[in-house]
Amino acid sequence: MRPLATRLNVLSGEGALSVFARAKELERQGRSIIHLELGEPDFHAAPSVVTALKAAIDAGHDRYCQVPGIPALREELCAYLKRTRNLDVTPGDIVVSPGAKTALFNALMAIVDPGDEVLYPDPGFPGYPSIPQGFGGVVVPYKLDASRQMQPDADEIARLITPRTKAIITCSPNNPTGTVYTDMVQRRIAELAVEHDLYVLSDEIYSRISFKGEYQSMRSYPGMAERTLVIDGFSKSFAMTGWRLGYTVAPSHLIPALDLIAINSYTCVAEFTQYAAIAALRDVENQTDRMAAEFRHRRDVFTTALNQIPGFHCEPCDGAFYAWVNITGTGISAEEVCRLMLEEAGVAGIPGKAFGEAGRDFVRFSFVSAPAKLEEAAARIQKISVAWQAVAAR
Ligand SMILES: Cc1ncc(COP(=O)(O)O)c(C=O)c1O
Repeated sequence: MRPLATRLNVLSGEGALSVFARAKELERQGRSIIHLELGEPDFHAAPSVVTALKAAIDAGHDRYCQVPGIPALREELCAYLKRTRNLDVTPGDIVVSPGAKTALFNALMAIVDPGDEVLYPDPGFPGYPSIPQGFGGVVVPYKLDASRQMQPDADEIARLITPRTKAIITCSPNNPTGTVYTDMVQRRIAELAVEHDLYVLSDEIYSRISFKGEYQSMRSYPGMAERTLVIDGFSKSFAMTGWRLGYTVAPSHLIPALDLIAINSYTCVAEFTQYAAIAALRDVENQTDRMAAEFRHRRDVFTTALNQIPGFHCEPCDGAFYAWVNITGTGISAEEVCRLMLEEAGVAGIPGKAFGEAGRDFVRFSFVSAPAKLEEAAARIQKISVAWQAVAAR
């Protein structure tokens, strides 16, 4: 057999998916597992969204449609982005994609040439280093660490910029740390982007699940509309993970490139899901705010419970739905903590290294289960924590 493309050697998988596979296997063996590994809300699309989907299919909206997305959805997105992020966007600035991940992939394909450097948050979403590397890019992590409350250090970013730097990826609220970047940090990153003529890929998929006041998009800072690619989607804000709906808001000179990549890959997003997405954006049930309030409640319940476990330390996150737990107090590695939790207690969490080197001393849990389940998970971990208390005491 002839070998496969060498670019595969630089792509990485996702730690969450491998933990999920093992947890599923244990479940098949009859074990009770509490799944806190995937970033999937335990809600479903609102009733009005399902009704709109059925109506769209009944109306025959199951055809090939416009490459960047149906005009009605892109118009609705403009109104939504104005309402929720105060962004002034026209339908021609938007390309709809099958999921935010595809939006990210295509945006990076449009920007990154071999040898171009891309700065990304560490810890961060695994695709940030993996995708640009697949295009021959050189990835450069900037750290989010506890000494700065997990905020990026703009001075570090400034030091990392070279003549080969093409783009900075930002993600606020961040997966896995839940950090909502401060206005000061974002303003400074924007200034650096303008000064060095860089693109910014602003992953705003958790923007509606923020517990820290009004959300500020990277696109809203001076000089940023012409260099920011906002990546967003329906998976988290509208609990529509399996619907595969995302979008990019891009500077107009980039739109033909994103269209071209879409033509060469997915052609268009399913027409009926796009009609349903319009109903999601209108959100007559006020589902997004209700979900965000519930996540905030779970964060409080779960953080309190986690902090009672010997060796665990967790700061309440400012957004998204992840508990980012420092486990250095256990005296064992995050991998070993996760192994014990899954195999002995039936609780699935992810070792922080799955999100980058800087996550080495952490474990990520998604608080996407009901509060009673989260409390049960903490109680189960508490019970088996004797394993590491014994190790730490040695
Ligand atoms: C930060 C971040 N960006 C993008 C995505 C991809 O979302 P989608 O389901 O829309 O592809 C995820 C999913 O977990 C994420 O956490």
